[in-house]
Amino acid sequence: MLTREHNDLICRVGAETPMGKALRRYWVPVLQSSDLPAPDCDPFPLEVFGDRFVAFRNSEGMVGILDEHCCHRLVSLVIGRCEGNGIRCLFHGWKFGVDGTVMETPNVPDPTFKTRIRAKAYPVRERGGLIWAYLGPGELEPAFPHYPWFDVPASNRINAYAVDNCNYVQVFEALVDSSHLNILHTDGLMASKKLENLNFAAAADMASDAGPRIEVDDTDFGFQYAALRGGEQPGQDTHVRITAITAPFFVANPNEDLWMCVVPINDYQCVHFHVFFHPERRMNEEPLRSNMLKHVGLDDEALRNFNMTYDTVGEPGAPSRRNHYHQNRASLKQGKFSGFHSFTQEDGAVVLSAGAIKDRTKEILAPADAAVMRYYRMLIQIARSGAAGETPMGVDADPRQIFGRNATLSHGVDWRTLVPKHHVTNRWRAARETEAVHA
Ligand SMILES: [Fe+2]
Repeated sequence: MLTREHNDLICRVGAETPMGKALRRYWVPVLQSSDLPAPDCDPFPLEVFGDRFVAFRNSEGMVGILDEHCCHRLVSLVIGRCEGNGIRCLFHGWKFGVDGTVMETPNVPDPTFKTRIRAKAYPVRERGGLIWAYLGPGELEPAFPHYPWFDVPASNRINAYAVDNCNYVQVFEALVDSSHLNILHTDGLMASKKLENLNFAAAADMASDAGPRIEVDDTDFGFQYAALRGGEQPGQDTHVRITAITAPFFVANPNEDLWMCVVPINDYQCVHFHVFFHPERRMNEEPLRSNMLKHVGLDDEALRNFNMTYDTVGEPGAPSRRNHYHQNRASLKQGKFSGFHSFTQEDGAVVLSAGAIKDRTKEILAPADAAVMRYYRMLIQIARSGAAGETPMGVDADPRQIFGRNATLSHGVDWRTLVPKHHVTNRWRAARETEAVHA
């Protein structure tokens, strides 16, 4: 459990909050490239950390992210015209470049006027199928991180995201919760076992053991946790699944083929980005692409049916307690475990059902939740850095040195030998963590 103060500290992301200040110090993905599909396409009404922006792609294909409202009379640029390498406000025709340069002010005769003003624009990069932004103080902009999957060809990578109608912390914590996989997702894992050429075969291997031993280490980039199955007796092998979490909300999975992150839209909604990748498999080509997305419930139809897209989230009839979150109750009687479409909808339903911002003063955590508690504590530490004006952990991390691992080890071999480049700063055992939780 957490105190109410700590729960607020980690969940609230507005510009004046400690966590909001900290989160603005990182480079974060805010859209997929496909959200701005062509030069001069429709601008995107973007919201990140509770602040509103307009994202647009100019005539040369460059992406700009500006404060949403025109710096003249504050009309939204979401309804602006994208033309001539800029975005033009409808009200008086002021036109802005991707870097905030004021290109034209047709209602101002003085030609030097526009050189004296500037729109608020943010640093943007486009890599790995994602549009990244840095939304913090300009003088504190960190180096842009290079993720290993940037180097995988687009044919071998799938980008997909789901929009969740609840706070980001409860969406993320399900990603560091190995023990729910065999339970909530039991139907999907069984189906995964039958599929070849998808990224799930390795995860499906451990579907039979719902009670892994969890060991968690603090690292200089965030933390890592190992879910250990078997290996307690001499001569027995241990199945190890290591997940690496880079502050504040980036996950490298054990199979080294999925990277995820959960970016707050505001305190009550977030975007769960997924990047599936493989060095050899051309998974972004049909039919692999559709098979993959459908299997995990990230195809457009499944997302829309569960109101997990930007244009359907929270609309009337969306999943709620009144409609059992769109659960198929009849299917439970026919042998299904969850009654939800697939992984994405199962996770979406359970985290949404906890409320818009989960009340962590009421949680009773168990040893299997050691990584969840570690995540809460990492967030508290990050927020404190934000409050103190210090650089939060992970800002300078090099993602090329941070990995998950899925492996089998002989009895007695330390799982940390699988990730020798991770710099461990503190070792926590599950039991100790649980004691700390209840202290
Ligand atoms: Fe899950």
